[in-house]
Amino acid sequence: MANKPPFIAGNWKMHMTIAEAKNLATAIVKASADLLEAEIVLAPPFTALSEVKKVLEDGSVQLAAQNLFWEEKGAFTGEVSAPMLKDAGCQYVIIGHSERRQYFGESDAGVNKKVSAALKSGVFPILCIGESLAERDRDETMDILSRQIQGGLEGIAAGDFKSIVVAYEPVWAIGTGKTATPGQAEEVHSHIREKLALSYGIGPAECAIILYGGSVKPANSFALQSEKNIDGFLVGGASLEAESFIQITREAIRAYKEKK
Ligand code: 13P
Repeated sequence: MANKPPFIAGNWKMHMTIAEAKNLATAIVKASADLLEAEIVLAPPFTALSEVKKVLEDGSVQLAAQNLFWEEKGAFTGEVSAPMLKDAGCQYVIIGHSERRQYFGESDAGVNKKVSAALKSGVFPILCIGESLAERDRDETMDILSRQIQGGLEGIAAGDFKSIVVAYEPVWAIGTGKTATPGQAEEVHSHIREKLALSYGIGPAECAIILYGGSVKPANSFALQSEKNIDGFLVGGASLEAESFIQITREAIRAYKEKK
């Protein structure tokens, strides 16, 4: 299994005024000079994207949006398209987050259209998948994830697959303080990689970046990143403060170096 430099993304969700977002991004950029072994991505709300972009301009920290709509333009009040995100300076876009699936009725088919739209505009998708607690209790985790992967990646060719990051976020671990144990997360990540290998071959599946998300904190990031198939994190709550986000990144880098 290829050991990859940690990919650490902060999903700020519906938090941060523009001024707060600029402050947080500035602090992270400053610290990132000592964190060059990690790929760091920040996902502010739409309103702060272009101002945060200015803060990121000279560094290696990358910008992500939290959602998009699949059409390029038109009468879709309230929506934002992939070309608009590209224009705002986004390298990445989070797609199919469980909060969007849960509160905004997003389906695998819609997620699939969004993945295609992002790729078409040269914005890399961070495709989120994950099971609910009820699904886990019914022993359906692997089936749910297989369905989400299949549905989300329907019709995506191998060449495009290389540009996609997958994020496994068990719904029961998001914002609850209940992290999946490293063993639980690894079991699922290895299933995801096997599933990807069936569609795209072993080589591309090994190169795929698979993130874990759900109550990632400085205290658990070393153990999680130490697992063979965990390539980094999609961090919610702990990404809202520079100190904890940077500490998570440091711990991930330490685990990466020890994994080598
Ligand atoms: P928390 O880290 O707050 O659990 O959120 C995880 C998440 O949903 C990131 O996208």
